[in-house]
Amino acid sequence: MLKKSILNSLAKWKAKLKPDPYSGQDTKQRFETIFAQNDWKDAESISGPGSNSEQTKEVISTVENVIETYGISSLLDVPCGDFGWMSKVDLKGARYTGGDIVDELIETNKVRYADRKEVQFEAIDLITDTLPKADLLLVRDCLVHLHSDLIHSALNNIKRSGIRYVLMTTFTERKYNTDIHTGDWRPLNLQIEPFNLPPPLAIFNENCTENNGAYRDKCLALWDVKTL
Ligand SMILES: C[S@@+](CC[C@H](N)C(=O)[O-])C[C@H]1O[C@@H](n2cnc3c(N)ncnc32)[C@H](O)[C@@H]1O
Repeated sequence: MLKKSILNSLAKWKAKLKPDPYSGQDTKQRFETIFAQNDWKDAESISGPGSNSEQTKEVISTVENVIETYGISSLLDVPCGDFGWMSKVDLKGARYTGGDIVDELIETNKVRYADRKEVQFEAIDLITDTLPKADLLLVRDCLVHLHSDLIHSALNNIKRSGIRYVLMTTFTERKYNTDIHTGDWRPLNLQIEPFNLPPPLAIFNENCTENNGAYRDKCLALWDVKTL
């Protein structure tokens, strides 16, 4: 117990020491800046290296598998980023809504995917907005970019949404969580301090090969929202 709290204090202290590249900006402005500057620097996707074709092969089949297995007829994807890999998912008749905090991304997606009648896009802040009703909410590669106080707020927002299932990124082998300035990144294990989510219904490994396998425990985990 003592060890956990020492590790948590140390993580917060380290985060304070690191300079904040987006100092003085609110949450929305931080991600607008990242988008405008292409700060995640992937040649294929503005949403970063975790969203390119190599890193999303397994993710595509996971989403298709969950839609089929859990009888999903409406999918809410927040954040949707550039909808790159998601545009290749067979939605199996499910209606799709993609949301993101960056308005410009949403406007670009609306134009680029105007011919996809089963998909729609709207500006949504996962932390503060009332989430549209859906059978399944996908939250991939989002909480890892937020300060822990904002993660707690996002999880509370998901809990009051009335959505049935949530599929979220978690790194299952991490023994402790660290903190960051919002907009930066770190791996997070949602089942340990300070989040302590219960065991999920199912865990799907992404087969992440980034950084020579340093993130091989990167998973999408499925929870019944009522149990969070
Ligand atoms: C690394 S990208 C991941 C996008 C997508 N889920 C994927 O797998 O490709 C992170 C995205 O989160 C968005 N974002 C950050 N905070 C958000 C929030 N509070 N609400 C909605 N979107 C947010 C950013 O604008 C960015 O597009």
